[in-house]
Amino acid sequence: MSFRPGISDFFEPVNQQNPTSNIGAYYAIKAEEARKHVKYPEYLAPTKAEEIGKYRQFTNPDHKKNDRGHFGDASFKNLFPKGIEEFKHFDLSPDLGTEIDDEKFQISKLDSKGRDDLALFLETRGLAVFRQQDFRDKGPQFAKEFGEHYGPLHVHPVSFSAENYPELFTTFRPAGTAERYEKNFSDTTGSHYWHSDISFEPYPSSFSFFVALEAPPSGGDTVFIDLREAYRRLSPTIQKFFETLTVIHSNVYQNKIAKYSGQPARVSGDLFTKHPLVRVHPVTGEKSLFFSRGFIQRVDGVKKQESDFILNFLVDHVLSNPEFQVRALHRGGDSKAVIAWDNRFLLHTATLDFLRHNTGNRHHFRITVLGERPYNDVIGDGEGNKDDDEIVKEDGTITPPAERE
Ligand SMILES: [Fe+2]
Repeated sequence: MSFRPGISDFFEPVNQQNPTSNIGAYYAIKAEEARKHVKYPEYLAPTKAEEIGKYRQFTNPDHKKNDRGHFGDASFKNLFPKGIEEFKHFDLSPDLGTEIDDEKFQISKLDSKGRDDLALFLETRGLAVFRQQDFRDKGPQFAKEFGEHYGPLHVHPVSFSAENYPELFTTFRPAGTAERYEKNFSDTTGSHYWHSDISFEPYPSSFSFFVALEAPPSGGDTVFIDLREAYRRLSPTIQKFFETLTVIHSNVYQNKIAKYSGQPARVSGDLFTKHPLVRVHPVTGEKSLFFSRGFIQRVDGVKKQESDFILNFLVDHVLSNPEFQVRALHRGGDSKAVIAWDNRFLLHTATLDFLRHNTGNRHHFRITVLGERPYNDVIGDGEGNKDDDEIVKEDGTITPPAERE
């Protein structure tokens, strides 16, 4: 069976016959009008004309050694001075995810050392859900500076953002009634989209911080997959084989959807980036399967049918096993949640499970920190270089494979 990259199905002419298809709903939002009806209009701004094509993707060549987790204390004494027991908390599973639901714990109050410990905490626990946070009311400049502690921030090519802060990515779905359900699912049985944020970038994300502004009281949760465990479950023979493989990631279909829906692009052009299928974490040294379903196009250097065979196996192995998964409940905007995770060894998807109900707005912003170029010890990075290298040109552009010599 052919492997279909995420969203690509939509561009088959035969699948574009349904006039009610809602696939470009996000980009169809008129931000100028929508922001009149939200609690935090500063986090919902249209892309300005002068921003079009202004940004290139960013490089981060020294991240492998600069990751703030290297500077964290393994006892987390700067994050939880009296131990995590001081705060009301629980683990989402023994391996993955911790929730802290305690007003006394505010990530906004962390000093530099506390922020370093938080990096190491996310690199071991994978994700954290912090409730009752004042973070959303600290303003965009505070959020930007908080994120920059961990590295350069990504500017998304085609998303909405906070006003004057293109680094603060906005997700928004307006208030609506049960009528949305029929429209949204008129031509699809599901709208989940497993991915690691911006894996199409040469230097994909280390951390994402997802900050709730407004959200329905239940539903719209984020589900996570532990790619370390997906790697560990494989036999040594397949683990070794997979360590030799390189996979092409791209935002080409995301860009097509944006264009189809009339959303201007801050970064022009499509990225086709090679990353190893198995990557090593720069701080913990743990291996994981870098299988970002939504952006993966094919395995490089093997035949089409062989690529299909490998990727279809990974779809089944990685995405269908509930033993690798945890669910971060959003519990609405009033829980004042900040959900933070390490994109290097997690996949996640939103869940669109609330459309049969009348709900208010769903509005979040995300800080997306750039990490290192993915690598492993067998093939190095996606170009086979064992050291950080310069395949990314000075201006941050890379060449699509079809145009390479
Ligand atoms: Fe995401």
